[in-house]
Amino acid sequence: MRNDIERVLIDEAVIERRLDSMAVEIERDFPDGTLVVIILLKGALVFAADLLRRVPRPLEIECLNVSSYEGLESSGQVNFLDRHFPDVKDRHVLLLDDILDTGRTLHAVSERLYQEGAAVVHTGVLLAKDKHRAEEVEADYVGFEIGDEFVVGYGLDYKGRYRNLPYVGVLKLEAAN
Ligand code: XMP
Repeated sequence: MRNDIERVLIDEAVIERRLDSMAVEIERDFPDGTLVVIILLKGALVFAADLLRRVPRPLEIECLNVSSYEGLESSGQVNFLDRHFPDVKDRHVLLLDDILDTGRTLHAVSERLYQEGAAVVHTGVLLAKDKHRAEEVEADYVGFEIGDEFVVGYGLDYKGRYRNLPYVGVLKLEAAN
């Protein structure tokens, strides 16, 4: 797998240090009470697992399956793939995704959470691409700002692969086939 990576963008130690500080930010911002965390599958799985173990407060964890990306491109449409939606009525929600790109995913899921009666929705992403977004949305917690290039690893995939790399890296063009 390492041979398919053009360069490591964010290594494991740097990710770990940033997760420590993100956990402190989250702990500081939320009022007392149990928080509902919604993890967007599959990309946010690794990030969320490592982040949430650093947050020392009562949490309920839910997962949502959404899809919007096809290969290297955003399809422009966000699809909810689950039959059931978590009960978020009057709850404080922390929505976690792997990466903020066009903004369509966070925008669509946040809207849906409010439609379902969530009291407050905060959003957190490991990565945010520094670019103009199709939807006006920014995350409340951002691990790292990156350039507008396709990245894999630490949960992010290309055609289902590379999610288990312990770092975030840029894929070689010849590996994207
Ligand atoms: P939007 O465009 O809705 O994108 O903000 C969010 C979703 O798109 C996927 N995505 C990527 N996946 N490398 C990936 O592996 C990338 O560089 C990338 N950019 C966007 C991702 O699934 C994210 O949840």
